[in-house]
Amino acid sequence: MGVWTQLFPPDPHFTEAQIPSLAGKVYIVTGGNSGVGRELAKILYAKGGTVYIAGRTLTKIESAIEEIITEVAAAATQTKDSTAAGQLHSLIVDLGNLSTIAPCVTAFLAKESRLDVLFNNAGVSRQPGGSVTTQGHEIHMGTNCLGPYLLTKLLLPLLTQTAQSAPQNSIRIIFASSGIIDLASPPGGLSLAELEPGKHSRDMNRNYAASKAGNWFLASEFDRRYATEGVVAVAQSPEMLRTPGWDGTPFLVRALMAPIFQPPRMGAYTGLWAGLSVDVKSGDGEKYIIPWGRWNKEPKKEHLASLRSKEDGGTSLAVEFFAYCEEMTKEFAG
Ligand SMILES: NC(=O)c1ccc[n+]([C@@H]2O[C@H](COP(=O)([O-])OP(=O)(O)OC[C@H]3O[C@@H](n4cnc5c(N)ncnc54)[C@H](OP(=O)(O)O)[C@@H]3O)[C@@H](O)[C@H]2O)c1
Repeated sequence: MGVWTQLFPPDPHFTEAQIPSLAGKVYIVTGGNSGVGRELAKILYAKGGTVYIAGRTLTKIESAIEEIITEVAAAATQTKDSTAAGQLHSLIVDLGNLSTIAPCVTAFLAKESRLDVLFNNAGVSRQPGGSVTTQGHEIHMGTNCLGPYLLTKLLLPLLTQTAQSAPQNSIRIIFASSGIIDLASPPGGLSLAELEPGKHSRDMNRNYAASKAGNWFLASEFDRRYATEGVVAVAQSPEMLRTPGWDGTPFLVRALMAPIFQPPRMGAYTGLWAGLSVDVKSGDGEKYIIPWGRWNKEPKKEHLASLRSKEDGGTSLAVEFFAYCEEMTKEFAG
């Protein structure tokens, strides 16, 4: 049932129609040059936001920016929408190389004095067993968790500063997770033992699912630790979108899934709800957002146990994972 409702969600209820002008607000969308991130960046920009598309390839970001500007202008002419579009900028970061993250943050801080929402959207999936990041971490865990952890940590001073004069609960960190955590993750969501060099699993689905459970754990921990400073962190699962992220999947699997694939725009609505809806608040980090913007009412008990401390009857795995991310990234904090 939990998987079913994620595969066949009700119609989105929080779309561009519900969003006021975002003029004066600043957003970072990692991986905003492709797939669901591109659609999210487009909506935020069309509504007047200043949007930084963070990614590893400047030419890809620049052509996405050019296309988005053209598409938004064409749509505005067609619909006679008079909302002034915002600004789109590029930001270079390779989340699979920890040494690129502090320079990316320095470049951003040189240009902006606020950050409203950090969308940690970029991610890799289905990479062959044995693939590692520049620093030798399992590639899904390194790119999807360690890089975003460090990026988030380095942007937190600006996020907390922005929160001091922003409406309550409006300053947020969003992590992209995936429903695959219910199907393929190791017991509890992830295995710290498997993250040791030489102990990485060869199963690409298991590795991807573990990193996506890690994204939820990071959201929960950032939310818990920064609630008193006015920053909200949550995880959301965009789910079953026909994006380049599926390109590495065998043709037959993609063909079988074709009838349930949705356009990436639908996934952007899930992120939009996570990032902008007033229904999301501090203390929600333990919850989990599913398509197209609602709470998962049936999380697995083993995942909830990982999110809770031993004192609260859980296993403290999320706390241990947060400490692991800190340990693995601290020498790259600048
Ligand atoms: N599509 C789905 O059905 C689905 C389902 C569940 C969860 N998700 C999650 O949604 C997020 C977006 O996925 P998508 O389907 O839109 O995938 P996508 O189209 O493949 O986009 C992924 C983005 O991440 C960027 N990226 C990958 N590795 C990077 C790195 N080392 N440094 C910086 N950027 C990097 C990619 O940049 P390049 O273009 O340079 O490669 C691209 O912009 C992911 O976190 C994914 O796990 C997607």
